[in-house]
Amino acid sequence: MMSPKLQLEITALTAQTDGPFYFYSLSRIQQTWQRLRESLPTDLEIFYSAKANSHPGILKTLRAFGASVDIASIGELNAARSAGFTAEQIEFTGPGKTPSELQAAIELGIDTLVVESLQELELIESIASSLGKQVDVSLRIHPAHFVTNSGRVLEGESSQFGIDEDQLPAAVAIHKSCPHVRIRGTHTHSQSNLLSADDVNQNFTFAIEAALRLQKLLGVKLETVNLGGGFGIPYIEGRAPLDLHAVGEKFKALRERDDVRLELGSARFRIELGRYLVGESGFFVTKVLYTKESQGKHYAILNGGFTQCQLACGAGQVIRRNFQISVIQKTVNTGKRRTHLAGPSCYSQDIVASDVELPTLSPGDLVCVHNVGAYGYSFSPVGFLRQAPATEYLA
Ligand SMILES: Cc1ncc(COP(=O)(O)O)c(C=O)c1O
Repeated sequence: MMSPKLQLEITALTAQTDGPFYFYSLSRIQQTWQRLRESLPTDLEIFYSAKANSHPGILKTLRAFGASVDIASIGELNAARSAGFTAEQIEFTGPGKTPSELQAAIELGIDTLVVESLQELELIESIASSLGKQVDVSLRIHPAHFVTNSGRVLEGESSQFGIDEDQLPAAVAIHKSCPHVRIRGTHTHSQSNLLSADDVNQNFTFAIEAALRLQKLLGVKLETVNLGGGFGIPYIEGRAPLDLHAVGEKFKALRERDDVRLELGSARFRIELGRYLVGESGFFVTKVLYTKESQGKHYAILNGGFTQCQLACGAGQVIRRNFQISVIQKTVNTGKRRTHLAGPSCYSQDIVASDVELPTLSPGDLVCVHNVGAYGYSFSPVGFLRQAPATEYLA
């Protein structure tokens, strides 16, 4: 539930805007960062995946805490630079980097270009050669099988992401004729939103074993191993959060394995996290415009929905579930009722929460959707209906 202090902060913002808005709590991001740093080895580098939320204030905050940044487009590259990240703190992932994006990243000399296909490797060589530059890259390795069975599966037996494990020999062969490219590390990101430390550990184990395989093929020591991450947050009330302490302990044990110590003892390990870092910090706040009844069901029509917060409307979920909702009422009504919260658009899936028990709503009440600090604003189809995007506030 929402603290009285947070309720006051959110209510105060309604004086500044009439439309729907996001509120990001910087103190929550700080608590999350501290929790990570206390539970994980101090030399494990943490990258922030800007795709989760590239608000300038959030990027600046995470940079100040000590994060590096994972970007996936030239737009995110520019946002990261404006927030003060140096080239050495930037890693570029994504299966469809354009020639001009690659050129910009190479000219800037970013820390790591993550190669996601054999053709991309060749293109990087040709751009680097024409610029007369040497480029360090990591190969993103795509697992041949599902790594675990829980969490949201991003990659299965075939995928547009990364280079299949069985194509690594081909990648190494191409690399031999790429004098301007040095494969310096590996990258993996197989799953998202994992709430079990065992699942995270299985992904880490895959990442390390894949790095060992690539290192053997290359015949030189790798310098960086990106383990991915996929740390989840409990979107559904009552779910246990990820046990970070257990994640840290399992990782320490993995790193102590004889082969890992021997072969990757000097490598720098890194993870990249989006939703874990910022998801719980964010609230989407919309106002009730109307209430109505249809065939015995109660509806509240809100001034924001799908176009400003597609995530709450079920996007990306296999089984649609309601996000946690808090209500700030203009005048407190007694009684509760099951209500459908509908956004303002003409799209039938514009349902912010379905059949949820809430205090009886009236026009002017505020509906606050929890846990949308990641993929809330950044993952919403603002072009639809040309509705105004939500305003963003952080404090
Ligand atoms: C390559 C890569 N890294 C990191 C992330 C961040 O994932 P999450 O926000 O679940 O931590 C994603 C998400 O899609 C991704 O594709």
